[in-house]
Amino acid sequence: MAPVEIKENLFWVGAVDWEIRDFHGYSTNKGSTYNAFLAMDEKVALFDTVKKTCRSDLLHNIRKVTEPAKIDYVIVNHVEMDHTGTLPELIELAKPEKIFCSAMGKKAMVDHFHREDWPYQVVKTGDTIRLGKRSVQFIETKMLHWPDNMFSYIPEDRLLISSDAFGQHWATSERFDDEVDEAELFMHAAKYYANILLLYSPLVQKLLKSVQEMGLAIDMIAPDHGLIWRSGLKKILEAYDRWSRQETEQKALVIYDTMWHSTEMMAKAILAGLMEQGISCRLLNLESTHRSDVMTEVLDAKALVFGSATLNNGMLPRMADMLNYMSGLRPAGRLGAVFGSYGWSGEAAKQIHAVLEEAKFRIMDPALRVRYVPTHEDLRKCVELGREIGKAVKE
Ligand code: FEO
Repeated sequence: MAPVEIKENLFWVGAVDWEIRDFHGYSTNKGSTYNAFLAMDEKVALFDTVKKTCRSDLLHNIRKVTEPAKIDYVIVNHVEMDHTGTLPELIELAKPEKIFCSAMGKKAMVDHFHREDWPYQVVKTGDTIRLGKRSVQFIETKMLHWPDNMFSYIPEDRLLISSDAFGQHWATSERFDDEVDEAELFMHAAKYYANILLLYSPLVQKLLKSVQEMGLAIDMIAPDHGLIWRSGLKKILEAYDRWSRQETEQKALVIYDTMWHSTEMMAKAILAGLMEQGISCRLLNLESTHRSDVMTEVLDAKALVFGSATLNNGMLPRMADMLNYMSGLRPAGRLGAVFGSYGWSGEAAKQIHAVLEEAKFRIMDPALRVRYVPTHEDLRKCVELGREIGKAVKE
């Protein structure tokens, strides 16, 4: 990829990672990008870097615009290594006058790179620096999603460089939202929110309100992953508002894992009952559905119905993985139900129930358990459970 001028004399100089398929547990099945931006002004400023494995893309792109040694300021909006992996090499080449970061950013950089001697300048919300014709205003966004995160706002360009927020893991040759399929773009943005930001939803709500109160004029949001928002600004801001309020649809998921298809038979019967109620529903077999794709569906689903067979006095491993992952992301205000087949002890249902209780789900009791293989009568009860869940979703 070559640099792309996103505003006059302000260039995207990041990297497209076509091959990454796993981002610490998130299935990036269409790759990702690490976005970095270079502002050419009286002071030359680089906003963020890229993952270490993509170092040559960043350096190549910078060199197409200027020499790294000409960079005066490096602005580190976030220290996670997909954005700072190339920082030590860049600092060596550029020898910048200053590295701007939040207080927690400085601490995290010292802990990552063990360099107390770098020219850090700590900034906080409201601090502004001048590059020449343009200025940069900083907005701390603590815990979105690390303590060090911040935004950089350039009023003269009406540009918000938003670090991880508003990102998507999607490798494309296009750089702007209006150059790609909108439905696919929003699917990737939703997946990103569900898997990275969902647990910080109360903070996202606060941030959206404070950005509104600050009255920032914005016509472009440039995240550190994926496409840059310019035509779909209103839509993505509305989506973040909806997602962070944990608004759900009349939608139910049947999420299950099975040993000898008995739990699967139950899952399909529950699905039939849900479908009778005319709500949107999905059947998600954990053998074939990645945990991060399940989370994308969880984002707007009102009811989550979990089923597992019992193995070694517990739930199946993929279900334990799913529940552990989902609990960490804290979906709120959901309705839950539990089912499963077992042979002689049947602890899986009790364990799933306990997880849902801890996650403050409104649980439909009792769990529906079947010994070994469901009878016609058992499956009729499953259909009935589906109907009851469907009615509750519509309440
Ligand atoms: Fe894209 Fe939190 O790093």
